[in-house]
Amino acid sequence: MVRGGRPLRGTVTVSGAKNAAVALLPATILARDACVVDNLPEIQDVLLLRDILSRMGAKVEYVPEERRMTVDTSADMTTGATFGLVRRMRASYYLLGALLARYGHAQIALPGGCDIGQRPIDQHLKGLRALGAEVETEHGILKAKTDGLRGAEVYLDVASVGATVNIMLASVHAEGLTTIVNAAKEPHVVDLANFLNCMGASVKGAGTDVIRVRGKKDLHGTSYTIIPDQIEAGTLMIAAAATRGDVVIQNVISTHLESISAKLIEMGVHVDQGYDHVRVYSDKRPRHVTIKTLPYPGFPTDIQQPISALLCTAEGTSVIIESIFEDRFKQVAEFCRMGARVSVDNRVAVIEGVEKLTGAPVTASDLRAGAALIVAGLMAEGETYIKNVKFIDRGYERIEDKLISLGASIERIEVEDEYGMYE
Ligand code: EPZ
Repeated sequence: MVRGGRPLRGTVTVSGAKNAAVALLPATILARDACVVDNLPEIQDVLLLRDILSRMGAKVEYVPEERRMTVDTSADMTTGATFGLVRRMRASYYLLGALLARYGHAQIALPGGCDIGQRPIDQHLKGLRALGAEVETEHGILKAKTDGLRGAEVYLDVASVGATVNIMLASVHAEGLTTIVNAAKEPHVVDLANFLNCMGASVKGAGTDVIRVRGKKDLHGTSYTIIPDQIEAGTLMIAAAATRGDVVIQNVISTHLESISAKLIEMGVHVDQGYDHVRVYSDKRPRHVTIKTLPYPGFPTDIQQPISALLCTAEGTSVIIESIFEDRFKQVAEFCRMGARVSVDNRVAVIEGVEKLTGAPVTASDLRAGAALIVAGLMAEGETYIKNVKFIDRGYERIEDKLISLGASIERIEVEDEYGMYE
């Protein structure tokens, strides 16, 4: 439950990046001895990967309060991850690339994840096949096998984060050079490349359109600290602006936030960037803007939903073009229950700013829609009840604690839904 109308003030520290964590933890399968991963966010997806890796035979020690996980995959692991846990997370398919590289075969249940579009994996399969793997889908299971992966040139039709990560994982032991053209450039892609290089791999060009991986026989364990979560940071920046607050967000990499800062400044919000922190403050109604989501370094699709909440009470009419996912405006129907005036046509949302939103019972449909509803609740007059907050816990560590420390009135309520199970 969120009680709106209170400006957020103070300092908050951003946790480690979810989308880096879910790529780096499967990558530990490639090391012949233990890896220590630091600055892990305490979120559902990290707990899920701990359980999946353990079930597959890895020795995993996870100390949440120290944000540290030690993963020792030196013993042999099963190459099948077809149990239920796997289906609950999109990033499970990274296990395919890692297991294929290490063992030459793998069976992974087709992934789940946020319902924001069809989310095909054709580019993943194209890349793995180019490296010499046979990949088939049978009964909802992705089955891959090879008699030895060989480096290849892979041209991605879409700058897909997942495909870039999966092909990078599969290529680290492949014989010779693998080139990924039109690669995704997201910060977590670079973080994975750095992690692999710390393990002794040879990955060059991450963060540019072309990544080159020279296969290496075996990789050793390493210790590594993952990057801060630029999507959590962006969400907190938007919450500060939405409540006309004044917040310093610590432990950020400012370059990762540039498109978000630029858009907030365009809206009339003040953003002072330090090298490891950013201060966001505003005392007036934001101006309308046009936003088009793009692959990094463009405006991130994961911030489209939180910022669409802020635009509901901006002055004037805003337009959002969601060019990455075809069905990522599920938060809009919920905003309209709070008095927003938004119309959606396929990949375009037109938001006519209103003076204020009013609190209402709303439902989160996916992770970032849930975050968007928190932002709307923080702005709205009265109380907003958000159902399905489990989606939010997948990507934000203790979000209510962070917001309460900034002065928000937000609490988690255990409820019995009509089926008598907890939300
Ligand atoms: C990653 O998803 C993130 N998830 C998403 O974050 C993020 O929104 C997305 O990248 C874009 O930045 C993780 O990193 C675990 P894509 P992913 O492959 O890899 C199409 C969050 O909220 N495509 O870059 O699934 C696809 O349909 C989550 O933290 C193909 O056509 O995204 C989409 O339109 C949500 N074929 C576009 O590419 C493929 O084989 C971008 O998808 C793969 C993707």
